[in-house]
Amino acid sequence: MKALILSGGKGTRLRPITYTGAKQLVPVMNKPILWYGIENVVAAGITEIGIVISPETGDEIKVRTGDGSRFGARITYILQDSPSGLAHAVKVARPFLQDSPFVMYLGDNLIQDSLDLFVYSFESECLDASILLKRVADPRAFGVAKLAADGRVLELVEKPQVPPSDLALVGVYLFSPAIHAAIDRIQPSPRGELEITDAIQRLISDGKVVKASELAGWWLDTGKKDDLLEANRILLDTCLQTTTLKVEGRDSQISGRVQIGSGTTIIKSVIRGPVVIGRNCHIENCFIGPYSSISDAVTLIETEIDHSVILGGARIESISHRIVDSVIGQRAHLKTTPQRPKALRFLVSDDSQIELV
Ligand code: DAU
Repeated sequence: MKALILSGGKGTRLRPITYTGAKQLVPVMNKPILWYGIENVVAAGITEIGIVISPETGDEIKVRTGDGSRFGARITYILQDSPSGLAHAVKVARPFLQDSPFVMYLGDNLIQDSLDLFVYSFESECLDASILLKRVADPRAFGVAKLAADGRVLELVEKPQVPPSDLALVGVYLFSPAIHAAIDRIQPSPRGELEITDAIQRLISDGKVVKASELAGWWLDTGKKDDLLEANRILLDTCLQTTTLKVEGRDSQISGRVQIGSGTTIIKSVIRGPVVIGRNCHIENCFIGPYSSISDAVTLIETEIDHSVILGGARIESISHRIVDSVIGQRAHLKTTPQRPKALRFLVSDDSQIELV
């Protein structure tokens, strides 16, 4: 069994954060989203991994993620020239996949469940496709499945206006090599993409064995800012176990589950977990509240933050109001004077959002 992780695409929904980088590298609890997928695949015993990348962000993904040795895997990078759909990505990856069965994992999805059981049932029941489903409140943003009373998959539709059920397709699929012939027989959808849902629908119409299973744990599609903050909150809640204090903390109060990287200095600050702080940060006269992830080399001075994700190299100084529910991009600078500011001066990139509430 091989794995194919899709890490191309455009990342338009996470702009402006994704103007300068791949959305799959945006950190959740200070680790790129993509790496959680790689770890999940490796934990299921799959070490031969292909990662689909785009011309725009592929180099950054290669440099950050490497050849797979850090995960105990072997990674092959596969360039997809244009984001022409999930089934198109499989087509481009055919020389890597050859005739092996494979797990396809969308690089911006996070799931709590281990893949072991799904891989076991796929192999032991000789399935042609296995799809994972999760009930969601608004399925219109996803692929949606309609099941028969006995659990058979009757129909799959991509982002329907009128969903046939509340069962969304999670971005993790298992396929036999039969998927390639199905992909060869589909046409681009109205949005111009070769849809994997159409290829699976084709397998169903051809009488192939397609099984659907419902995920037990959480599933997060980190497409938008609020999804990203929610993913960060859930991971800090469920996965941040240890308190690592390799820190020079002076006159500070650190409580709850807090992880702090080496080389970080904390002076006269209050940190209330769950919080993760990266390496080489400088934090002075600050309050860092629950559900905050602060990446490497961040400077925070006279600032209060909670429920936020701060990316590497950002600098935030003397902000008189608490920063909440925020994502601050790499190397961004935010600063006010300690006195009440008389004017606001901005250099704000395209698609940025600033709310003074
Ligand atoms: O997240 C689950 C949903 O993912 C499913 O419910 C949908 O059925 C499925 O089509 C997909 O929908 P999205 O609109 O969320 O897919 P997105 O364009 O965000 O792409 C998902 C991942 O695949 C992302 O990491 C980018 C990558 N990708 C996407 C395209 C279109 C590629 O590598 N190549 C591509 O051509």
